[in-house]
Amino acid sequence: MKAEDVNLYLVGFMGTGKSTVGRAVAQRVGFACIDSDHEIERRKGKEIPAIFAELGEPAFRGMEREFIEGGHSTTRTVVACGGGLVVQPGMLARLKAHGVVVCLHASVETILARTSRQKNRPLLNVEDPEARIRKLFAEREPIYRSSGSVILTDGRPMNDIIAHVLRVWRRESGEFARSAEGRAVGAPVASGGAK
Ligand code: S3P
Repeated sequence: MKAEDVNLYLVGFMGTGKSTVGRAVAQRVGFACIDSDHEIERRKGKEIPAIFAELGEPAFRGMEREFIEGGHSTTRTVVACGGGLVVQPGMLARLKAHGVVVCLHASVETILARTSRQKNRPLLNVEDPEARIRKLFAEREPIYRSSGSVILTDGRPMNDIIAHVLRVWRRESGEFARSAEGRAVGAPVASGGAK
């Protein structure tokens, strides 16, 4: 695989700007951009709040897994991942097997301000969204922090964030392509040895 074809996965908490940044980055490098939430909604013909209400969160998490495991293009694509996608056991390793993972980060205050304008996030559709954000954030932070390069978005102009994401992708896609080549070269030897 060539470095310039390596997928980019944007992960991070709700309201960190994954979809907006994803679209802008994809445009800059001529990639497609897909948003896991939109793709799931399109395939199921239902919006996320309805999926949560009618089928429950575990069913939604299964749809996210399905999408990553077999349902998306694994080259020349920026994938804006729903905030909880990478949190599921085994998902980070799956994303890393497909491309470069970058985590967008923001403070709880920024997340609260950004998410309070929209009502389409069932996990925050509660009496005290701030308490829910703090709790989820604390539970998820170790995974986000270990997911890849973490980019702070608080108070930064969009162009700065995009340039930072592109720098990381350019650097890490080269490493990814080299190690993918190494795995491909190593594969016949490994399978031969296992016989
Ligand atoms: C969720 C994040 C949402 C969406 C769903 C659950 C989460 O995506 O997948 O409401 O568990 O953090 P965004 O991060 O795009 O808001």
